[in-house]
Amino acid sequence: MNVLVIGGGGREHALCWKLAQSPRLRKLYCAPGNPGIAEVAEVVALDAADHLAVVAFCEAQAIGLVVVGPEQPLVDGLVDTLRRHRIHAFGPTAAAAQLEGSKAFTKELCQSHGIPTAAYECFDDVDSARAYLADQPLPIVIKADGLAAGKGVVIAETRAQAEAAVDMMFDGALGEAGASVVIEEFLTGEEVSLFALVDGATAIPFGSAQDHKRVGDGDTGPNTGGMGAYSPAPVLTRELQDRAMREIVEPTARAMASAGMPFHGVLYAGLMLTEDGPKLIEYNARFGDPECQVLMARLDSDLLDILLAVADGQLWEIKPRWKDASALVVVMAAKGYPGTPKKGSEIRGIDAAEATGATVFHAGTGRDGDRLVAAGGRVLGITALGKNVTEAQARAYEAVNRIDWPGGFCRRDIGWRAVERETR
Ligand code: AMP
Ligand code: GLY
Repeated sequence: MNVLVIGGGGREHALCWKLAQSPRLRKLYCAPGNPGIAEVAEVVALDAADHLAVVAFCEAQAIGLVVVGPEQPLVDGLVDTLRRHRIHAFGPTAAAAQLEGSKAFTKELCQSHGIPTAAYECFDDVDSARAYLADQPLPIVIKADGLAAGKGVVIAETRAQAEAAVDMMFDGALGEAGASVVIEEFLTGEEVSLFALVDGATAIPFGSAQDHKRVGDGDTGPNTGGMGAYSPAPVLTRELQDRAMREIVEPTARAMASAGMPFHGVLYAGLMLTEDGPKLIEYNARFGDPECQVLMARLDSDLLDILLAVADGQLWEIKPRWKDASALVVVMAAKGYPGTPKKGSEIRGIDAAEATGATVFHAGTGRDGDRLVAAGGRVLGITALGKNVTEAQARAYEAVNRIDWPGGFCRRDIGWRAVERETR
């Protein structure tokens, strides 16, 4: 079968790397891809926003499955267009992707189906939002309704900060994303990500992970797309995972199906493990990045079988098998990230890093002649396996140390919570 992957980050490199191992694969394409992906797939210059161009490519190349990596094309309805042209796709329709694309939609769904989440109110104008803030306890969480590339959540410690966040969103700083604003209760606990494969009303767990969103060691500094992750997350015990599936993911899948918007694809639940049990912080309608890199490193089953089963509505056939190991990824970013990353610096030492047994996924690399250079904020994901997180961490950093890239940096403490737990 011929497969087209949409996207060009570390997530898509990990998906392509794993798909390339499938005996059922004939030819793998990726659009737009990146230099790392180009080693396992043919990269094509297709604009994912041009849905009909994607359809034309799929028809010309006899693509049997399209795997959509990022959220934007999902929210924009690429899967809807593909389906109308009878092209198989892994990923939700635009209606189902509202679980990621609209925080107000998800909060309302949770409320009407008794799915545990932070208490909230939703506002369409600045005056009522400000009035509501006046007597709310602090800290409080302000969220833009729509997709805001990681900039749409403010945790306000003071009323002045909360008001400033509300003003900023209604002033249009985040564009359309801020036209509605959700104000919600601050939850305390440990955060964990649970991935589930969903095919209409059926959902099965597909691994857990914990990531590090802050740019600096000790979880300090500004938020990023994720500086590293590990899987599985030891904090999400079997019992807690079952409970989160039963109380959060499964009722969501059933609610979406009965509302006529069945979800197909991977549902990524960001959970807070509170004293009252797991509560939903947010959904994503796709794999996380860098979380996907550690999931793919651990997955033993054929990924193509799994994605096809979801796309065909045959999820009941699938029982994913995982390596009996932990995986950890350290993200290497260009200096300046998450502000303005400096592009163009040369990266060397990838072969030496991989000689340790680690896998180097490309997230934001480019070519300048025959030099490999930084072309984005998050640039590499150095992924290693070990018998536990402690060992995977040691192996990942051994590989990181062989990367010769003066223009880059990484955190030195990815996995610290799990390592602490393992050494206790
Ligand atoms: P997001 O950009 O939607 O991934 O949210 C960013 C981060 O904000 C989450 O990963 C949480 O750490 C934090 N967050 C979001 N909502 C809440 C909440 N209700 N209580 C506490 N922290 C939250
Ligand atoms: N690493 C967080 C995300 O993919 O949204």
